Amino acid sequence: MTCNEKLILALDVPEYDYALELVDKFRDRIEIFKVGLELYTVAGPLIIREIHRRGKKVFLDLKLHDIPTTVSRAGIAAARMGVFMFNVHASGGYNMMKKCMDDVVKVCLKENLNRPRILAVTVLTSISMEVLRDEVGIQHSLNTHVKHLSSLALRAGLDGVVASANEAVLIRRHCGRGFLIVTPGIRTSWTPPDDQMRTMTPKQAIRAGADYIVMGRAILSQVDPVKTIELIKTEIDAA
Ligand code: C5P
Repeated sequence: MTCNEKLILALDVPEYDYALELVDKFRDRIEIFKVGLELYTVAGPLIIREIHRRGKKVFLDLKLHDIPTTVSRAGIAAARMGVFMFNVHASGGYNMMKKCMDDVVKVCLKENLNRPRILAVTVLTSISMEVLRDEVGIQHSLNTHVKHLSSLALRAGLDGVVASANEAVLIRRHCGRGFLIVTPGIRTSWTPPDDQMRTMTPKQAIRAGADYIVMGRAILSQVDPVKTIELIKTEIDAA
């Protein structure tokens, strides 16, 4: 996999036109663009179609979490839009993940579609150990919880997880080589963590075993985002 593919750019912007401007600006340097809750809510399937028209791949980051039938139907819709990957919350449980994967596989075979990678979000990178314990009510350690959710996703047949790079080594050890690890919460050494709690640098994340890193603000808030991307790629290469 090339550097262009390893770095996923989060298009966390509130406007369709601005999102496409960013795609056009970075299309020579980025292969996969992430469309999340904000952009999808304002721009919907149209933005996905336009990114595809530019020959780029989409990671649809809607973190689906609902009853199995609803998640499976949304997954099928994502597959029909041709996204490269999408995600669900592992805490939605085994049946939710398994039904989504099984139904998407069936539809893709029947309709001759490329099957999207389906990932499970373990514990959000914005959640600290204390929040997980005191607010979410998980009494065992964060690592144990991430390990549990990753194993559940593997058993349900998912392609991988979205997790903090802090847990990448642990996940790799428990889920094996072929299991994809996508890590948001990435910060260069010169950018603030914002609301992220479990961050790592691009180099640390790749060294820990991340297949893909997701970055938004640490690129888009810079005066020269193109130069920032080049610096990040140098880090990825070195790792
Ligand atoms: O700006 P920043 O690089 O922190 O953005 C991270 C992106 O990754 C956001 O779009 C966020 O929704 C997403 N994400 C995350 N943590 C997860 C899953 C997705 O930060 N566990």
